[in-house]
Amino acid sequence: MRLLSANLTLAHKKLRSAFFLFLWIHSRGSWCCVTGAVVTGATDGIGKSYAEELARRGFAMMLISRSQEKLDDVARSIEEQFKVETRTIAVDFGKTDIYSKIEEGLAGLEIGVLVNNVGVSYPYPEYYLHIPDLDNFITNMINVNMTSVCQMTRLVLPRMCERSKGVILNISSASGMYPLPLLTVYSATKAFVDFFSRGLQEEYRRQGILIQSVLPFFVVTKMTRIKKPTLDKPTPERYVAAELTTVGLQSQTNGYFPHAVMGWVTTKLVPTSIVIFLGATMNRLQRTGYLQRRKLREQKNGQSLKTE
Ligand SMILES: NC(=O)c1ccc[n+]([C@@H]2O[C@H](COP(=O)([O-])OP(=O)(O)OC[C@H]3O[C@@H](n4cnc5c(N)ncnc54)[C@H](OP(=O)(O)O)[C@@H]3O)[C@@H](O)[C@H]2O)c1
Repeated sequence: MRLLSANLTLAHKKLRSAFFLFLWIHSRGSWCCVTGAVVTGATDGIGKSYAEELARRGFAMMLISRSQEKLDDVARSIEEQFKVETRTIAVDFGKTDIYSKIEEGLAGLEIGVLVNNVGVSYPYPEYYLHIPDLDNFITNMINVNMTSVCQMTRLVLPRMCERSKGVILNISSASGMYPLPLLTVYSATKAFVDFFSRGLQEEYRRQGILIQSVLPFFVVTKMTRIKKPTLDKPTPERYVAAELTTVGLQSQTNGYFPHAVMGWVTTKLVPTSIVIFLGATMNRLQRTGYLQRRKLREQKNGQSLKTE
């Protein structure tokens, strides 16, 4: 047992040092200029944790998110904690006319790392035709989850290729590993991110560019509304710290050991049809629970309006 634990600790240390070595190799010669990292969706959850971890490693930060107020708060906190220059761009990734503004904001920065993190999911699991405001829902989800990844890569990759170095981390999801009914559009957009990343990695691998597809299971964030971290549902800080140790070692990763086990079981051990059936069952139950709670809330509000 003690031998196993010693081996695991050694393996962990090796992984960490591989990441640091990788960053060192990839940033040699450019630390004197501004070596920057760009994170989309950087004001909360997983994106905020990436921004903090990269700032801790000395990268100048460019944070891109929707609300300027939240961006200012996160930028101030990062500058105070890690003493790195931190800039911000406020845009809504649900729109498609934002990329010239982002291009202007990025001009002149040497970008070593791009984290395509921004993403939106469903407010609750729902059958496709019952999704409220379906037309806008589709446009927004495709723009935020898919277009942002392609467009941000279009802006940043050319300069990385000129310098023959750069890292792009695309945050997909475990729900992109197989169809997830009642979260079907989300699941499909995340499968796109995974395919885009893996295809592009092969195209640009020989030019020294590292593109990683990251497929987390549940993480405790605003998106999942999970409040209490557990071993299989880590905090974003814990998840990101673990994920960064896989950069340079895996081009497709669940990023965190318990998630890697879950990924292995659900793709290698259990037939896909069963995984899809179980996903649908879980989401139907969640949908029923959500709609019942909503109905109760509405009844309560109706009663309190009557008594007023
Ligand atoms: N949490 C999980 O369990 C989990 C699992 C698998 C994959 N993922 C993926 O991980 C990524 C991050 O998820 P998260 O859970 O950290 O999400 P989150 O807590 O909801 O944070 C999302 C971030 O993106 C920003 N954002 C959302 N919509 C935006 C828009 N239209 N324009 C600009 N910025 C926008 C948010 O800003 P505001 O605060 O202003 O909204 C926030 O900073 C997503 O791609 C998600 O699909 C998450």
